[in-house]
Amino acid sequence: MESFLIKGGVPLQGEVTVSGSKNAALPILAATLLTEEPCVIRRVPDLSDTRFMAQILASLGARVEFVRGAVTVHAQKIQGYADYELVRKMRGSICIAGPLLARLRQARISLPGGCIIGARPINLHLKGFQALGAKIKIEGGYVNATAKCLVGNSLFLGGRAGPTVLGTANVMMAATLADGVTVIESAACEPEVVDLAKFLNAMGAQISGAGSPTITIAGVKKLHGAEHEVIPDRIEAATFLIAAGATNGEVILKGARADHLHAVIDKLGDAGVSVTRRGLDLIARRRGGLMPVDITTLPYSGFPTDVQAQMMSLLSLAPGLSIITERIFESRFMHVSELARLGADIEIEGPSAIVKGGRPLSGAPVMASDLRASAALVIAGLAAKGATQVNRIYHLDRGYEQMDAKLRKLGARIRRVEEKT
Ligand code: EPU
Repeated sequence: MESFLIKGGVPLQGEVTVSGSKNAALPILAATLLTEEPCVIRRVPDLSDTRFMAQILASLGARVEFVRGAVTVHAQKIQGYADYELVRKMRGSICIAGPLLARLRQARISLPGGCIIGARPINLHLKGFQALGAKIKIEGGYVNATAKCLVGNSLFLGGRAGPTVLGTANVMMAATLADGVTVIESAACEPEVVDLAKFLNAMGAQISGAGSPTITIAGVKKLHGAEHEVIPDRIEAATFLIAAGATNGEVILKGARADHLHAVIDKLGDAGVSVTRRGLDLIARRRGGLMPVDITTLPYSGFPTDVQAQMMSLLSLAPGLSIITERIFESRFMHVSELARLGADIEIEGPSAIVKGGRPLSGAPVMASDLRASAALVIAGLAAKGATQVNRIYHLDRGYEQMDAKLRKLGARIRRVEEKT
C-alpha cells in the first residue's frame, strides 16, 4: 500500500488545473448503457473509481476504451447482471441499475452495502423504480428489478436526509425510456445531476428542470450515441482552495466553475480566505488571520458534505470555536481522531464537531479512512510543522487525479512512498 510523505509548512503558490468531476463522470458513464450506439465522454478523470466503472461496463458486455481522459463506450450487446465482487468495491456502481432496467427491463445487481461514512441505503432508488412499474425482489444480497414495461409516473424522492443524488440519477435514467411522462419531486439539484441530464438530452432524451427540485422526463422509444464533456470537479476545486488558505499561500485554479462553489467560497470568505475570479480562473489567498465559522452540510446549493472534512482541517487552524454539523451522512467524522494526532482539538457532539481551533499542528503518521477524510489529512499535513505520513492513500486515489503531482507543482513537499508494514 502507498502513503504520502508530506513535509509541511510550505505556502502553496502557483497554478493548478481542475480535473473532470468524478461524481458527474460515474453516472454519465453508466448512462452509455442506455444505447447500443457508441458514446464518447471527455474530461473523465483518470481515477481508480472511473477505471473501475469502465471495468463494470466491460463486464456487462460493452466495449470500453479509456485514452487520455476520453472514454469511448460501445454497449451494443449487454447483459443485466452485476456481481457482488464488482459492486462492493464502489458504492457508486449502483447507478448502472437505472440504465439496465430501462434498456433490458431487468437488472440484477448486488446490494452495495454501507460504507465508513454511513449506512447508505438505496430504498429511494428502489421506490423510484417501483413507481415506474418495476417489480423489486431482494434475494441473496442482490436486487432483482424487472419490468414488462416502464410507465411514467409522478414520484417523490425525498428521504430522511433530503434528496438523493444517485437515486435521482438512477430514476431519471430509467425514466428516459419509459412510456409517458415522469415527474420527480424533491429531486437532487447537484450540478452532477444537471450534467447527466445534459448528456441524456444529447442522447435524445427529453428532460427538463434538472437543477431544480422538479425534474420532468418525457419518455422516448430509443436513445442514440452522443459525445459529452464532463463538468470540472467542484469538490477537487474546493479542496485546493482550502489547501491554499490552510498553508497561507496563493493558488490560481484554472477551469473551476465558481457558480458550482458558492457555499464553499462564501464560508471560505467568512474564515478569512478570499476567493476572487479572474476571467475563468479562481484565485484563493488569505486576507490575514483565519477566523472560526459555523458550517452545516446540506444538499446543493448548501455546503457540500464532500468538503466538510477538508474545511475541518482549515478551521482547526483558526483561533476560536467553529461548529461543523454534518446533516447528510451520520458517521462522516472518521477524520476527527486522525486530525487529533496532528494536534487538532475537536470534540464530537451528536451530529456536530466542535473545533477549538488555533493550536499549531505538528506532523505525525495518520491513517486515511475514506476519500474526503484523506484529503483533509493531506491539507492538515501541508499546514503542519514537520513530517506527516498519510497512510492508505488508495482512498484518495479513488477521487483525486494526481493530487501529489498537482500539489508538487504548487511547491508542496509531498512524495508517494510504499507504506512500511
Ligand atoms: N439515502 C437514503 N436512501 C437512499 C439513498 C440515499 O436514505 O435510497 C440517504 C443517504 O443515506 C444520505 C442521503 O440520503 O443520508 C444522501 O445520499 P445520496 O443518495 O445523495 O448519496 P449518493 O448519491 O450515494 C453522492 C456522491 C457522494 C456524496 C453524496 C451527497 C457519487 C458517486 N457519490 O452519493 O460522494 O457525498 O452524493 O452529496 O456521486 C464522495 O465523492 O466522496 C462521495 C461520498
